[in-house]
Amino acid sequence: MSAFTITGGRPLRGAARVQGAKNSVLPILAATVLSGGPCVIHNCPDLLDVDSSVRILRYLGCGAERESSSSVAVDTAGMSRHDIPDSMMREMRSSVVFLGAILSRAGEAVMSYPGGCDLGPRPIDLHLSSLRQMGADISEAGGFLICKAPRLTGCDIHLSTPSVGATENTMLAAARAHGTTRILNAAREPEIKDLQTFLNAMGGRVSGAGSSTVVIEGVRQLSGAEHTVIPDRIAAATLLTAVASAGGEILLENVWPEDLETVIAVMAEAGCGIRRDGTTLLARRDKALRAVGRVRTMPHPGFPTDAQAPVMAVTCHAEGTTVFSENVFEGRYRHVGELLRMGADIQVEGHVAVVCGVPKLCGAQVRATDLRGGAALVVAALAAEGETELSGLEHIDRGYEKLEDVLSALGADIKRV
Ligand code: UD1
Repeated sequence: MSAFTITGGRPLRGAARVQGAKNSVLPILAATVLSGGPCVIHNCPDLLDVDSSVRILRYLGCGAERESSSSVAVDTAGMSRHDIPDSMMREMRSSVVFLGAILSRAGEAVMSYPGGCDLGPRPIDLHLSSLRQMGADISEAGGFLICKAPRLTGCDIHLSTPSVGATENTMLAAARAHGTTRILNAAREPEIKDLQTFLNAMGGRVSGAGSSTVVIEGVRQLSGAEHTVIPDRIAAATLLTAVASAGGEILLENVWPEDLETVIAVMAEAGCGIRRDGTTLLARRDKALRAVGRVRTMPHPGFPTDAQAPVMAVTCHAEGTTVFSENVFEGRYRHVGELLRMGADIQVEGHVAVVCGVPKLCGAQVRATDLRGGAALVVAALAAEGETELSGLEHIDRGYEKLEDVLSALGADIKRV
């Protein structure tokens, strides 16, 4: 089992290029199934979750391999199966977005419930209900979903909550359906727009992504396409929290600042100087950290739930009290117990966490309990006195490309042992 050892107290300095977005590339790799031909995906981060998607594509009979350090080539012409084994479904949450794509391509799909980070209950009722409204017949047997839809038909789908995954699955199922599908109360995350761009590059007719109504006019056939994945706004947010925590000055390249407005505002309130210039962000923290009052997570364009844990790590050693309200997931405070081991003062009551800043965190033996919670422990360790040993790296490697290399190039004392 590998672990990070991190010795805190070294300010960060230098430049870092932000990886391609995990939450974009996963539905895009699933979407390649619809093309029935060759696709090349650029700016594809090297992550365990991408490896899981590649394994699913190969199991389905498709060709999928890394062409270079940042491009993956997929050829779905030879797809010969429509099922995904339980072991592959459990590797990540995004395995479920293959459902809409396989169902559309093969007219049937068999898979179990997806795994992924344990953030409390993560139902897929909205995914299934959308597919049923489009004409799919879905039954359950022995923990498997058995889905049949010889003919998916477009319709109006009202999501009761703007679920990212359900919006994506519906877009994938609708891209080659008969007629037009309108998703109302759709998720507005930038990754939905990126999926729209890719579907349109394959010959799809999708519009409205980024707003709360996405319209998909079904087309008979899609073809192979090339696509460059957008920058990862949560990886960028994590690096912003890293420099806020450790102090110093870093230049982030390959960033879309407009996708990070709420995180930039919170980090500025905490005492960081942040300058934007095109696709770069210069972030500096040279004075004492301040508490930020209240942080409420919301669907995009609200404050992202994925940045809650890393921002909390910063407020743990800021002067004053910060109150977090987690409004997207029920169980997203599993990092709190680990931050307490590092000397943080946090009280959790339901979906609210009250963080009273302490003058110093101290190094400890801690364990990543999920992807972003693990990143939060790295952020805390960069400022802590002494050494932190962080295990559970399999969570961090699912979503961050060589995080230790990125941070040590910026001057952090972090090693994988
Ligand atoms: C995606 C992101 C994840 C991010 C989350 C919210 C990916 C791979 N993951 O996850 O990083 O934290 O969006 O921005 O893109 N819900 C239901 N029924 C459903 C689907 C969702 O009740 O059928 C609920 C969930 O339990 C949760 C809320 O809706 O409370 C939002 O979930 P959703 O937007 O679907 O998140 P994911 O797509 O799983």
